[in-house]
Amino acid sequence: MSARIIDGKAFAAQVREKVAAHVARLKEVQGITPGLAVVLVGDDPASEVYVRNKGKQTLEVGMNSYEHKLPAETSEAELLALIERLNADPEVHGILVQLPLPGHLNSDLVINSIDPAKDVDGFHISNVGLLGTGQKAMVPCTPLGCLMMLRDQLGSLSGLNAVVVGRSNIVGKPMAQLLLGDSCTVTIAHSRTKDLAAVCRRADILVAAVGRAEMIPGDWIKPGATVIDVGINRIERGGKKKLVGDVHFESAAAVAGAITPVPGGVGPMTIACLLANTVTACCRANG
Ligand code: GUN
Repeated sequence: MSARIIDGKAFAAQVREKVAAHVARLKEVQGITPGLAVVLVGDDPASEVYVRNKGKQTLEVGMNSYEHKLPAETSEAELLALIERLNADPEVHGILVQLPLPGHLNSDLVINSIDPAKDVDGFHISNVGLLGTGQKAMVPCTPLGCLMMLRDQLGSLSGLNAVVVGRSNIVGKPMAQLLLGDSCTVTIAHSRTKDLAAVCRRADILVAAVGRAEMIPGDWIKPGATVIDVGINRIERGGKKKLVGDVHFESAAAVAGAITPVPGGVGPMTIACLLANTVTACCRANG
């Protein structure tokens, strides 16, 4: 193995420390405590784990956490009424509605009812437009975390060839916008891309966000490239359950210059960036 392993867990701990210091200053100087409201509809076990982790880490950095757990059969009108209350609440600086929502609820409608200034996920259509036009936006947490790791590894990204594999609204598209903002030459590839291997081999920066276990092997990677693996796929191998990324780690690590592991790479950065976004929203709300 030759690649440097990018330690997302340690990096996320550093981000949380900075957030905690900022929160402490806000309390001391302005008497304000940033607050994050997380809304969970239904009882999806994976979502419950995520929401619990978010609440725990929010409290650990000294912020207020407001959890709203609603039954699966909650109506759209009830959910919209809660969001309206949170939008109007001056103690709440960030609002996150955990996705996916139960099928009878219109996710786009719900997300777009959040005050864009409190939309710490960066999913509101206003924030999508602001990011796309290079203006001050709330930026989705996972791509923001990836960008922070890339800047930390590489310094300037200017002029580098970046390939983003995956075109989701949550990761692929905003990731491409962020890389473009840092003056990369950006290609968005996906499962229908012709000769995906050749496209990937051109990448100085390869961000894999397709959600297919170990789809990208080492021989698709340019020697020395920086590889960011967003995938979290649960597989069973040799009778054991295992988490793997979208990149085949062992073969990729033999070729890449640096690579994020799964777990312990991108994952921990997502919640750290959510906390950072909440502090940003609080600072913007309070001048
Ligand atoms: N479900 C899985 N990841 C996310 C996320 O980043 N934000 C929200 N709101 N829901 C999610």
